[in-house]
Amino acid sequence: TSDHLRHLDSMAALPSGAGNISHLNAVILGEALASEEHDLVFPSADFSRQAHVSSPEKYLEMYRRSIEDPAGFWSDIAAEFYWKEKWGKQVYSENLDVRKGSIKIEWFKGGTTNICYNALDRNIEAGNGGKVALYWEGNELGQDGSLSYSELLEKVCQLANYLKYIGVRKGDAIVIYLPMLMELPIAMLACARIGAVHSVVFAGFSAESLAQRIVDCKPKAVVTCNAVRRGSKVINLKDIVDAALVESAKNGVSVDVCLTYENQSAMNRETTKWQEGRDIWWQDAVPKHPTSCAVEWVDAEDPLFLLYTSGSTGKPKGVLHTTGGYMIYTATTFKYAFDFKPSDIYWCTADCGWITGHSYVTYGPLLNGASVVVFEGAPNYPDPGRCWDIVDKYKVTIFYTAPTLYVTRYSRKSLRVLGSVGEPINPSAWRWFFNVVGDSRCPISDTWWQTETGGFMITPLPGGWPQKPGSATFPFFGVQPVIVDEKGTEIEGECSGYLCVKSSWPGAFRTLYGDQERYETTYFKPFPGYYFSGDGCSRDNDGYHWLTGRVDDVINVSGHRIGTAEVESALVSHHQCAEAAVVGVEHEVKGQGIYAFVTLVEGVPYSEELRKSLVLSVRNQIGAFAAPDKIHWAPGLPKTRSGKIMRRILRKIASRQLDELGDTSTLADPSVVDQLIALSDC
Ligand code: PRX
Repeated sequence: TSDHLRHLDSMAALPSGAGNISHLNAVILGEALASEEHDLVFPSADFSRQAHVSSPEKYLEMYRRSIEDPAGFWSDIAAEFYWKEKWGKQVYSENLDVRKGSIKIEWFKGGTTNICYNALDRNIEAGNGGKVALYWEGNELGQDGSLSYSELLEKVCQLANYLKYIGVRKGDAIVIYLPMLMELPIAMLACARIGAVHSVVFAGFSAESLAQRIVDCKPKAVVTCNAVRRGSKVINLKDIVDAALVESAKNGVSVDVCLTYENQSAMNRETTKWQEGRDIWWQDAVPKHPTSCAVEWVDAEDPLFLLYTSGSTGKPKGVLHTTGGYMIYTATTFKYAFDFKPSDIYWCTADCGWITGHSYVTYGPLLNGASVVVFEGAPNYPDPGRCWDIVDKYKVTIFYTAPTLYVTRYSRKSLRVLGSVGEPINPSAWRWFFNVVGDSRCPISDTWWQTETGGFMITPLPGGWPQKPGSATFPFFGVQPVIVDEKGTEIEGECSGYLCVKSSWPGAFRTLYGDQERYETTYFKPFPGYYFSGDGCSRDNDGYHWLTGRVDDVINVSGHRIGTAEVESALVSHHQCAEAAVVGVEHEVKGQGIYAFVTLVEGVPYSEELRKSLVLSVRNQIGAFAAPDKIHWAPGLPKTRSGKIMRRILRKIASRQLDELGDTSTLADPSVVDQLIALSDC
């Protein structure tokens, strides 16, 4: 802490020794100003005046309390929510140090609550039943809908009652494989209402990937729809689920109920393949159930959801989040990082199949009583202006997206705050987002966080701090980021290293489902005493944080997190592929692209046809979003004498940085490098 607070103290003195916000405001004379010289972008005085956190001092005061008295800080916030029973004497308990025993994080243990109740009933009781909870914008122009808080609650209750009717009980898992229909957040909330554990699988995953997740969490039911339109394509989701269920059955997990929403705009029921007894139409079954449903009060530490994410080995990890801490954390981060006000219209472009959609489409915003836009389609369909049409149509004031989303052309008057997530945003992209999209008026919250962290960890608080283009700035309340060197020693001052976190925060994941050992090995053993994020980070003289990307074998493609090992194992499952090594390369549109080196089975010639079938193999095993951008035929791979593939060299070849190959003399066969370079354009 101390180091961190010192930074902040010195920051509070910005610019050049000025100690208070009135001075800052005097400096900027009420105008947002991008100062190339200081590389600082100040919030306008108007914005700061109305912001929840209006100055560096205010942030510091709150931050300091959150670190010095986490129990007091978070229980004051938690008290704004409904608890059936209050938590026990100890607000939290934690052990993040593997040397002291098993890793354990608990917040508000003994307290009973329900996140669905807090997101819906609580807002309705406060008089906001008629307020729009969800605006839904379909794939096709003119296709839309909305649900008020009261209407949403009724839909959630009907589904919750249906789930209870088929025997789903507290603690049972439900797999949800749906596109961005309103039924997706409805299904999540219905599970939460009855204490069932949802596991949403992004509807771009293949049957294989879906099956893998079903086998791991053994759900009581799968909730899906028959098909979806995405851009100009129709995707038959039910076929994918059918194949996944056959595959899971082979692995000993059979699912009794497949609840299927008839998405008529994509496909009607007559043409949908059906398995009597197992498959049930949502529209036939769910509306018969009552529109109110008693809440299952659960312990703060009872599981809320599982979300599978990629790591550096092949098998996806089931990140487990519990109820109470996650609820408080997503609600609070949403409120402060977006400076949320009840009059805002909020749109996050993420899909609920990823953590961003869990925390910042569904839970965080609804817990705050926000009106949320849910968009089913693709950002460039029917044309690249679609996003801006949506912003205008709903008068969106807070727009949260990934830097690689295809955003062009104009600024939008209604916008007030912009958010960015998923990958480092470079300073020129930042300026472009700020100047062009935000009309030099809207602060940008560049939010750094992960599936594992549940919510924002390092983020600007708009109005609070001057920003630096490309920096995620400072930690959120209660978060103590540290930068360590290879030995795990904290480094102070201006530095660069591995980003870790000291001590727990309420939104932290509690384990990997069914694999506490992997949880500890992956996240807590690399640097004992800390949570290790897998990201690199540097900190400048003013204490601003700059994320530099993953330091493990995980890549980020258009905000989708993909393990290189997963892609490799999909490639080698192809009968003509002997070995594969996958690396990430910079990609103009996607942030990172997937670059695969493949060695073929002896005697097999490389051809365009084979390239296509290798790519297809990845699409089938993982999903289209993981398809390699480049296949590089590699008769041999650069390996050390002990047989380890030297990825460092592959990364350089992939990004054509041939003069930076470094020392290749330790390779078992240095000549493979020249061979690979010669084959670059095959
Ligand atoms: O590398 C970081 C990158 O995305 C990773 C987490 O991916 P995932 O769990 O799928 O969650 C994505 C949405 C939170 C991180 O380890 N990342 C996320 N946000 C940022 C980022 N990198 C730089 N800047 C960010 N704002």
